Amino acid sequence: VNSETGQLLDLHKKAAQLYHHILVNTPAGEGGRRYLTRRGTSAQLIDQFQLGFAPEKEILTAYCEQQKMDYQLLRKSGLFTEDQSGKLHDRFQGRVMYPIKNQYGQVIAFSGRLLNTAVTDLPKYLNSPETPIFNKRRTLFNLDVAKKAARQTGKLYLFEGFMDVISAFGAGVSAGIASMGTSFTEEQVGIIRRTSPQLNICYDGDDAGQNAIDRAIKLVASQATGNLQVRVVQLPAGVDPDEYVQKFGADRFKDYLAGQEETTTDFYLRFLRQGRHLTNQSELMSYLDQALKVIARVTAPLEQDMYLGKLAQEFSLDKAALQGQLGQIKEQLG
Ligand code: CTP
Ligand code: MN
Ligand code: MN
Ligand code: MN
Ligand code: MN
Repeated sequence: VNSETGQLLDLHKKAAQLYHHILVNTPAGEGGRRYLTRRGTSAQLIDQFQLGFAPEKEILTAYCEQQKMDYQLLRKSGLFTEDQSGKLHDRFQGRVMYPIKNQYGQVIAFSGRLLNTAVTDLPKYLNSPETPIFNKRRTLFNLDVAKKAARQTGKLYLFEGFMDVISAFGAGVSAGIASMGTSFTEEQVGIIRRTSPQLNICYDGDDAGQNAIDRAIKLVASQATGNLQVRVVQLPAGVDPDEYVQKFGADRFKDYLAGQEETTTDFYLRFLRQGRHLTNQSELMSYLDQALKVIARVTAPLEQDMYLGKLAQEFSLDKAALQGQLGQIKEQLG
């Protein structure tokens, strides 16, 4: 490994092995082990994802000095911070370590999670900065594994966090990916499109999750090239996929994913209702107007008719009248 890229990959591989060894085999990993046990993360999952622990010591700095690694290489790796005098220090300390891999399964970065977020205002998850081998916008956690699963099932699941992907994997759903803490990007959409015909968005069951689903659907729709079927799986209020698995178990999680899969139109018909008092006539009218705008965008005539039927039935409305209003809206939209 002579190229800079090769050397950076090699350093990340060694760092992942070191953090994993500390977590699994050493007294310094005790805090991390207790944390993961409390979260229900099995030894098997710890191995599968090569989870690790960075203690509150400068173990990586010590290791690299001992190996006489090149200072400029270490500086570029993103694994260290640099003080005024130019001396390097471990960037990740006191954190459970999640190796982030490229689509070939090579470690290119890390995210480190604090054991206890209550006692500090440090960020819960700290990610590696951008480096010559790590471009956040183009990285999806677990893509190396998920793309193989998607070849069988034709589906990828987009989750919010690392632990959602890991717990889903433990439950038998290995086609899960997550964007890198930052929001979902155009580049990631492009990669997903080339990997799978369908994407199921499965974000947290809170307001932030719902709003993020809305943004993700719009981002995919804004990219006209190619076909990607988007579906939504809305989690129950107050839980994320990881919490669902821990609370209800693998079988119920898989049943939920299969049973709650809905079209983006169905998602919007629900999403637009939120916070409205539909027994109030003017609120109902304004909801119907927005709902018809969503339905107007459905291109297949039969499918469009089906949504109109649903709406008519739900609010005991005359379907022909709804149809008429839909026609007007389509004219306005051109
Ligand atoms: N995130 C982050 N920094 C934060 C909060 C969130 O980088 N302070 C990113 C992480 O990638 C995280 C994702 O956003 O996985 C989703 O956020 P959240 O739902 O709050 O975190 P969880 O994944 O549920 O994390 P955990 O279960 O470990 O608390
Ligand atoms: Mn191991
Ligand atoms: Mn969340
Ligand atoms: Mn969580
Ligand atoms: Mn969450």
